[in-house]
Amino acid sequence: MNIDALRREYQKGELKDDHLDPDPMHLFEKWFEQALHADIFDPNAMTLATADLSGRPSARIVLLKKFDEKGFYFFTNYTSRKGSELDKNPLAALLIFWKELERQVRIEGAVKRTTRNESDQYFHSRSLESRISAAISPQSKVVESRRFLEDRWVEYLKEIKDKDVKRPDFWGGFRLIPDSIEFWQGRPNRLHDRILYKRTGKAWEIVRLAP
Ligand SMILES: Cc1cc2nc3c(=O)[nH]c(=O)nc-3n(C[C@H](O)[C@H](O)[C@H](O)COP(=O)(O)O)c2cc1C
Repeated sequence: MNIDALRREYQKGELKDDHLDPDPMHLFEKWFEQALHADIFDPNAMTLATADLSGRPSARIVLLKKFDEKGFYFFTNYTSRKGSELDKNPLAALLIFWKELERQVRIEGAVKRTTRNESDQYFHSRSLESRISAAISPQSKVVESRRFLEDRWVEYLKEIKDKDVKRPDFWGGFRLIPDSIEFWQGRPNRLHDRILYKRTGKAWEIVRLAP
């Protein structure tokens, strides 16, 4: 298969210095709003990169469920590979690629677990079916078969009857507190725009990076 000829020009937007908000969360909100209206499949899907204590990185997609002045929130199983890597090394990177807008946002920082209350709130916003899956799935562990998971799911449903599924302690949210956010806009001739916000105390320093 010959894929070396796959390439195209980027020309949908630009990041001018005089468009920049001093607060990157405002610019992120504006870009997210535009992504919501750009007919993007899963506009809140993002890559989460973590690393173990030896420095070996791993990455996977998770869904961004909330963002505010305190950071970016996602939910998962705390005993999963990502969960245990984050417990040992609480530094992570997030990457959102909105290809329809020729944009990426790269976010880095320290990660903290959300409060029990925040995790409960999000857990109970999920459907009964996906709450059961969260409760019965030993995420990232080897299982003997698909059948094993399906049997556990059905058993759990029978056990709870019409009672609610409580959030298991091993399941909840993380909040990434950004200390660096880069906004990337594709431009013609590969001369892309890259604007990096770096946290300096309470303020943000803004620099332009070469593409
Ligand atoms: C579109 C999409 C959304 C996903 N959202 C989540 C999520 O929000 N939380 C989660 O734990 N896994 C999510 N996953 C599954 C993860 O990519 C991954 O398979 C799982 O979390 C196990 O990762 P780990 O073994 O590295 O911990 C999603 C996968 C896709 C493709």
